[in-house]
This record gives sequence, structure tokens and C-alpha cells, in this order.
Amino acid sequence: MPGCKLLFIMKSIQYLLLLISGSFFVSCKNSVSHTVKDYSGWSAYAGSKDGIRYSSNDQVDTSNVSQLQVAWTYSSHDRDTGNRTQNQCNPVMVKGILYGISPRLKLFALNAATGEQKWLFDPAVEDTSAKNDPYAFFKVSRGVMYWHDGDDERIFYSVGAKTYAINAKDGKPVRTFGKSGYIDLSENLDRDGDSSLFVASSTPGIIYKDLMIIGLRVSESADASPGPVRAYDVRTGERRWIFHTIPHPGEFGYDDWQDKEAYKKLGGANSWAGMSLDEEKGIVYVPTGTVSGDFYGGIRKGKNLFGNSLIALDASTGKYIWHFQVVHHDLWDRDLAANPNLVTIHHDGKDIEAVAQITKHGFVFLFDRNNGQPVFPIEERPVPTTGLPGEEVWPTQPIPSLPEPFARQQFEPGDVSNIDSATHVDMMEKYSKIKYRTMFAPPSKEGSWIFPGFDGGGEWGGAAVDPASGILYVNSSELPWALTMIDVPAKTEADFTLKGKGVGVYGKYCMSCHGAELKGNGSSYPSLLNLEKKYNDDQAWKIISNGKNMMPAFKQLDENDQKALLAFILNKKEKEPASFVSAKVKAATGPSKEPLSAVIPDKKSILDEVPYTMTGYNRFYDKNGYPGITPPWGTLNAVDLNTGKLLWKVPLGEYPELTKKGIPVTGTENYGGPVVTKGGLIFIAASRDAKIRAFDKLSGKVLWEAQLPVPGYATPAVYAVNGKEYIVIACGGGKIGSKSGDQYIAFALPDKK
Ligand code: HEC
Repeated sequence: MPGCKLLFIMKSIQYLLLLISGSFFVSCKNSVSHTVKDYSGWSAYAGSKDGIRYSSNDQVDTSNVSQLQVAWTYSSHDRDTGNRTQNQCNPVMVKGILYGISPRLKLFALNAATGEQKWLFDPAVEDTSAKNDPYAFFKVSRGVMYWHDGDDERIFYSVGAKTYAINAKDGKPVRTFGKSGYIDLSENLDRDGDSSLFVASSTPGIIYKDLMIIGLRVSESADASPGPVRAYDVRTGERRWIFHTIPHPGEFGYDDWQDKEAYKKLGGANSWAGMSLDEEKGIVYVPTGTVSGDFYGGIRKGKNLFGNSLIALDASTGKYIWHFQVVHHDLWDRDLAANPNLVTIHHDGKDIEAVAQITKHGFVFLFDRNNGQPVFPIEERPVPTTGLPGEEVWPTQPIPSLPEPFARQQFEPGDVSNIDSATHVDMMEKYSKIKYRTMFAPPSKEGSWIFPGFDGGGEWGGAAVDPASGILYVNSSELPWALTMIDVPAKTEADFTLKGKGVGVYGKYCMSCHGAELKGNGSSYPSLLNLEKKYNDDQAWKIISNGKNMMPAFKQLDENDQKALLAFILNKKEKEPASFVSAKVKAATGPSKEPLSAVIPDKKSILDEVPYTMTGYNRFYDKNGYPGITPPWGTLNAVDLNTGKLLWKVPLGEYPELTKKGIPVTGTENYGGPVVTKGGLIFIAASRDAKIRAFDKLSGKVLWEAQLPVPGYATPAVYAVNGKEYIVIACGGGKIGSKSGDQYIAFALPDKK
């Protein structure tokens, strides 16, 4: 069969490439002794500490992948029946044990070959503050860190601001670590005062020797917590180093800030998407997000170092080595949203130890990871500079000449959906209401298109890289989102009543998700209308101050703001102000209606210096819920890092009802990443149609797919146990209109009879 022959030739080429790269590891770096890396397990988030989502297993290959079947399923039975939980976990597998996280952030250990549970750790039982309501807290945890020293094996994982050390053998907290088993990430931030600001860890950090290096998720608003990168002693939980992502006096980058107090009052620039480690050189590569708040930079003039940067740090000391800022003075929420990939590429006749960083706006930034030199030229291009009054837009942005972008980056009238003529007319009308469409158009009251959207382009699922070929595989969503700014309502509404003040508080903190009219967005962000029928003050405040599932916590609100906000969202009768202030308010305001702040002084907040707020994260959907742009809506892409060329692009995901109508496969929005294997395959779920697929890594052809109970918005883990290869995916759904689920599903080839 000619097909077989071709396959054989391809396999041989792959093998040769592998041999070449294998020998490279041993021969060309002679200063230190080198071992060929082991990619047969899945011992860290993204597979290995170099962050490449690669598996060297080849039992499952292009010839037999169609025979894959379910090997086991595991259910944690803790999905939310209201479809608000997700599961973004990429589990790890070490010595035959799979360590994973459930939708409600229970940690478990399974026999990786059978799915049989060995132990379960429930943070709601451990943490008595959460015990009253085990469902109330922010819940995103994308994975765990594994560390061992001889017999001492530990799993580190985070539940909100707590990072637990759990004995990997029995699932019990290691009581000698931190505060009897955990450390509190909201402490030791090197910032005086406010410990009430929301911090959490969403993506796991990385283990280097006896250090756990970890970043933070913080809020998106201007009063966000600082987001330093910190390293803790894995044995004691003691903080061993800190890197301030907004530099302090005397630190490199401090001079770059016009505002010499920036480090005292600004937050963000946090690394929430995971890191990568060159273990041999002891260098950790840290991607960061925007300096807070997201869409108005008048309070943070200048380039905003080290926001939106890829930073190389000495992993033992946290000392700065190099950085590259991918977006200057970010006004578009262009966080670096995925861990970088470390890979040796071949370019201009040389081998380059490189680091690749995918971005939400659809670029791959590629550097020599030893010195930060771009592999392909990166040009500083002029961008529009007319921003909102008070804003100082940075005049240029870095654009890589290569690699080629993996997503469309411009949303023109010709791109508006023409799925049928009625939809086209409707969507053209909506399209024309948003004025600006060039990439990096500053936020405005007339509106601008964010395309790729706020969730990318590339997102936290990250990219996979085949170390044998230097080819990077990345999935991408292609949905425009509209960004429109308005004045903070408090500036326009009467500030004299509790409710009036509440409108302002709502505008600052809540509107971006729950919308200008409190209606939510119809899917992930619920409506807050008629909330008084559902909750009393205490119940509502509990959700707001603790956060819930995908909602971050807002416990930093002072009593005034809290009462005013509750009066507004619970639609209180103005004659009955909330009990706490009622007496004082009545006494002081009486007929003259003094502002509330004259009665109880308001806590000073940097938020008061922010004159604008966004109207919400508005995805551009048509009336049937399809993206209002021409397909593809989701893609999988192969980018050759050696040449910078985009090798292929195929749709990822399908709407079967549209395919039936004769529309070519459109792809769907997608969350979660790919894995590439030595067997010639890319495994990826991520699509809204709840399928997991295997693509041929050479051609992008779909070779296998299986239906999942709900979408696997997560990244698979691929590993071998007892000579058998498994592909495992967490199926959590709970996003973009999908039902929530609580299963892990493992696939493998059938046993030979
Ligand atoms: C980043 C987006 C985001 C922001 C900002 C946000 N929320 Fe939420 N909110 C959510 C999500 C998601 C849920 C659904 C949580 C769940 O039930 O799992 C939610 C749920 C709620 C609920 C419960 C609704 C119900 O019907 O059970 C209340 C009340 C609420 N939010 C109030 C607020 C208030 C007040 C603010 C501002 C202080 C706020 N939220 C800011 C995302 C957000």
C-alpha cells in the first residue's frame, strides 16, 4: 500500500530528526553533563518544566489512533448543577499516579492506569472558614506541582490564596509546611496595608530544586493587588525570594516609571498563566499581565515595566536576567496568557536555545533564551495615539516580522458574518456602532474592536512544541469583542443617596461582567436583576466578599461602599437605608442630604482617580449565538519556529447543524491547549462541541475524534504506565454556554487479544 510506504518514510524522517536533536543534547553543550530529557511521563503542568506539552510516547500513532477507546473514567461528583463550575486542570502523572483537581478544587490521586481513587483531599473540610459554605470561593486551579526528595513526596496546589503542601502518598497536609499545611499568598507581598485585595493562584508555578516559584491572579480593576513572583522553600513554606514586577526604588526598571510611587499604589503585572524553567541553566521564564486597571492608563503613565513582559529570572535568587515587553502601556487586557515554550530551533545554520511566547493578539514572539535577542526582527510600529482625556497612549508597539501570526488580526466590514442575509444585515448594523478597528486602537467612548478577543487568539491553554522538529502547535479563537468606555456612573449620578453611591461602586467593580443594566451576558455572567428575591444582605455580601466559582472576591470594599452597593443591587427602598449607617445617615443627611462620605469618611482608593469604566466584555454573537464574523471561529495552527512560517491552519471544532447545511466546518471558540506526541499526533479537546480529537501533526488532518460528556476546556495529559499509553482529559465545561461536568476520561488502545 502506498499509504503505508509514505507513513514509513515519514516515520523514518521523524526518527532521524529525533536522533539529530538527541545527539545535540549530548554533544554540543559540553560544559555541563547533559541527559536526554524524559518526556514519557507528565510530571509537571504542560507536561514538563520546559512547558512544551510534548509526549515521547508513540504507541498510539497515525496508523492506529482510530482504535482509541475509553480506558477509564473518574467522576468527582461535584459539578455545579447550575453549570457555573469549570475544570481547567492539566493533571500530572508521576510513578503511575495521576494527581488532579475537581471542579470544586478537591485534590485527588488516582491509579493512572485504572482511574481508581487512592485518596482525596477536600479543602472545604480542611478550611473551616469555607466549611460553612464549601461552594463559596473563587475556583480556578489549572494544576499541581510535584516535588520529591527521596521518600518525601509532595503535591503543591492552590485554592484561592492558599497554597497547600499535601503528602503525595496519603493526601494529608504536610503540617510542618507554612501554617500547618499551607501558605497564604496574600501575605508577604511587600506592600504596606491592604491585605483585603483579591489574590489567588490559578495556574500552578514551577519547582526548581527546593523552591516553589509561583505567580498570582489578581483583580482587573485599578485597585488590584501587586503581582510579584515569589519563591518559597518547599520544606518550610518560607519565602526565599521575591521579584517585584513593578520595580521598587533601586531595582532595575524603577527609573523607567515617571511616577516614583507607582510601586506603592499600582497592582497587576502579575504572572497568572504559568512559567517555564530551563532546569540545567537555572533560569525561569515568567510571562506577566497588564498593570492594573485594564483599560485606562492615566494613573499609570509610561511603558509600565514589567507589565505584559516575558522576564527571565535566576531561579535560585529571583535576580533579573533579561526581559522583553510585548505590549507597552497596555490598554487592551493583553496579558501574556500562556506559559512560554523552551525549545532548541535551527535557524540561519545555527542551533538556538529559544523561548517562544504566544499571545492573545495572535503572535508568536521568539527569542534566544540566553540573552533575550529576538530570533526574527521585531519592529516598533507606530499606533494610533488619540486616547480618552487623561490617557497617554504609548506611540509604538512591537510587531514580530516572523513567525507569521496564527490568527486574523483585523475585523473589516467584509468580515462580518454572512451566514444568511438577515443575520448579515443585523450584524452589519451592530458592527457599525463600534467605530475603531485597527489593532491597538485606544479605548474610547465610540468603541473599538478587540480582535482576536479578550480571550485570544492564544489563551491559557498555551502551545505545544515538538522538540524534534521545532514546530509549534497552537489553537486559537477568532471572535471579535467590543470594548466601549463610559464615564464612571458616580460622576454623573447624584452621589447623595446610598443607591446613587451604589451605582458608582457597581460601575467601578461589577459592571464589566454583570453589565451596565445588571443583566449579565446571558451565559457565564449571571443577571443581578431581582436579586432581592434571592438573597438578603448577608447572603449577597458573602458571595461578593468571597467570590464564587469564576467570580473573584471583592472583600476590599469598605463599609460605605458595601452598604451602598447592597442598597443598589438589592434594590432597597431609599427610605430604609441599610441598618449599619441608617442612624448616622438619618442624623446627618436629614433633609439637607449631605453626601454619605461626609458622615463616614471613605477609604481612599486609587479607583477614585479612574474616570472611566468599560461597559462589559461584549462578545460579538449573532441572535443564534454564532460568532458575528465569517469563519473560521476556532483554529489549530502549526508554526515552524525554525523558519517562522505558518505551515498549516485547520478549523478546530464544529457546529454539526451548520455542517449539515453544507457550510464548511467552522471551528468554535476554544479553551484549553494541545499536546503533540512522538507518535505523530496532536491531541486536543478545547472545542465547544465537546469532542476530543487527534490531528496528524504533519498535515492537520483529523484522524480520530470522540464525544465527551461536556467540553474538555483543559489540556490533555499524555503518559505511559506499564507500557501502555494513555490520553487523559478533564471535562469541566461550564463556559460559553456549555453544561458543567466533573469527569476525567482516559483513552488508550485496546489490549491485544
Ligand atoms: C470577573 C467577572 C465578575 C465581576 C467583576 C463581578 N462578578 Fe459577580 N459573578 C460573576 C460570575 C461568573 C458569577 C457566577 C458565580 C456562580 O454562581 O458560580 C457571579 C455571581 C454573582 C452573584 C450571585 C448571583 C446569583 O444569582 O446567584 C452576585 C450577587 C454577584 N455576582 C455580585 C457581584 C458584584 C456586586 C460585583 C461587584 C462588586 C461583581 N459581582 C463583580 C462574575 C463577576
